[in-house]
Amino acid sequence: MRRTRRIRAIVAVSATMVLAAGMAVAISTSANAATTLGAAAAQSGRYFGAATNSFMLNRQPHATVLNREFNSIVAENEMKWYHTEPNQNQFNFTAGDQLIAHARARGMTVRGHTLVWHAQQPAWAENMSGTALRNAMINHINRVAGHWRGQIHSWDVVNEAFADGGSGARRDSNLQRTGNDWIEVAFRTARAADPGAKLCYNDYNTDGINAKSTAIYNMVRDFKARGVPIDCVGLQSHLGTTLDPTYQQNIQRFADLGVDVQITELDIQQGANQANMYGQVTRACLAVARCTGITVWGVLDPDSWRTGANPLLFDGNGNKKPAYDAVLNALNAGGNNPPPPTTAPPPVTTPPPSGGGCSASVSLNSWNGGFVATVRVTAGSSAINGWRVRLTVPSGATVTGSWNANRSGNTGAVDWTNVDYNGRVAAGQSTEFGFQATGNGSIPTPSCTAS
Ligand code: G3I
Repeated sequence: MRRTRRIRAIVAVSATMVLAAGMAVAISTSANAATTLGAAAAQSGRYFGAATNSFMLNRQPHATVLNREFNSIVAENEMKWYHTEPNQNQFNFTAGDQLIAHARARGMTVRGHTLVWHAQQPAWAENMSGTALRNAMINHINRVAGHWRGQIHSWDVVNEAFADGGSGARRDSNLQRTGNDWIEVAFRTARAADPGAKLCYNDYNTDGINAKSTAIYNMVRDFKARGVPIDCVGLQSHLGTTLDPTYQQNIQRFADLGVDVQITELDIQQGANQANMYGQVTRACLAVARCTGITVWGVLDPDSWRTGANPLLFDGNGNKKPAYDAVLNALNAGGNNPPPPTTAPPPVTTPPPSGGGCSASVSLNSWNGGFVATVRVTAGSSAINGWRVRLTVPSGATVTGSWNANRSGNTGAVDWTNVDYNGRVAAGQSTEFGFQATGNGSIPTPSCTAS
């Protein structure tokens, strides 16, 4: 009897211990909720990033907060045209390289901002027009996206190309005056220069369903229908004191076109509604599977371009604001709506020639009245130190610009030779050059001679 009571007591104690252990598990689950923005976003396969500058990477308390909280960064200014190509064909990648090295050392991804924009152009480009500007744009995209090829998660290929107000029109700019196709040419060029990066169109005042966001929606729908490479739309989200009630619906309609949506430059006016709005924006993104990440436009309030608005998540001492808690809680509460796995665009496959020498293949992205050609040069069973490709441009077509190659003319049979940095190709490996042309037609398989 005494033994039975003892066993019952042991069972009771054990049951209590099991219960306690269970509670401990339950408690530790919530105690295990992520404690940084990046980790909390990563629970649902998203990123949470911030804009910064190379000269802030060692500035405190900016650096501590940046490195602790975020798993993505974007250059606030240092990858813009005026910064990366201050003089024509003279490139400055130092600051961008520093930002990328900082990110890669910490497992952060990098957004690229921005390849082409009407603002913050170098003076030499501001003063250009027509074909010269179009070719300069193509060259800029090739060299910048090419330099950071494979290291950029998403590029803002084109920034702020639509007008404000109800017109739904394109914004007038020197780029727009080169022809309405400048945006698609920029996207095709960027795809060839960095096939692994997601290519985004980025704009502001698009944070709800309105004339401007609808014009962008129509452009994206048209691009998807015609095969112009576009992968994502950036909603900058520089917000005031109220959130457009169609904010989430707007994200959803872009996602339904088959592109990702990214909140790219989030900042919200300080005030009674700031924390609440930060939570609303975060929940809206989490509710749409293809809303794949959020970037805030700065780390500490005094870093912000909106002087006096205090629109960010941390004060000047690096303290977390109520807005921070709202975002973190929203991220921890979400997490059950992961975006689909990213699919890289299919590689262009060219069988290497069986002997030595080289072979060339060409792929075209055409539209009515023009095309961009990407030419792939592949070495045979031995490395080559230089190459010449002879390619026949369709009758009536004229080459208006090219990149990564020298060329002998612009119509008929044109010879293309390597430039100094892409002549050497290892056995079985490839390099690419490209050109843009007016006109239409097909191109027979080009010939390739190694040197
Ligand atoms: O670098 C010069 C410095 O040498 C000079 O002494 C100083 C005097 O004004 O200017 C410095 O350049 C400033 C630059 O930021 C770098 O700090 C420019 O004046 C200033 O206009 C520029 O502002 C940037 C702005 O883009 C330019 O339009 C902001 O920092 C940046 O936050 C802002 O970011 C944009 C996004 O790229 C696109 N979406 C809107 C967003 C906010 O405007």
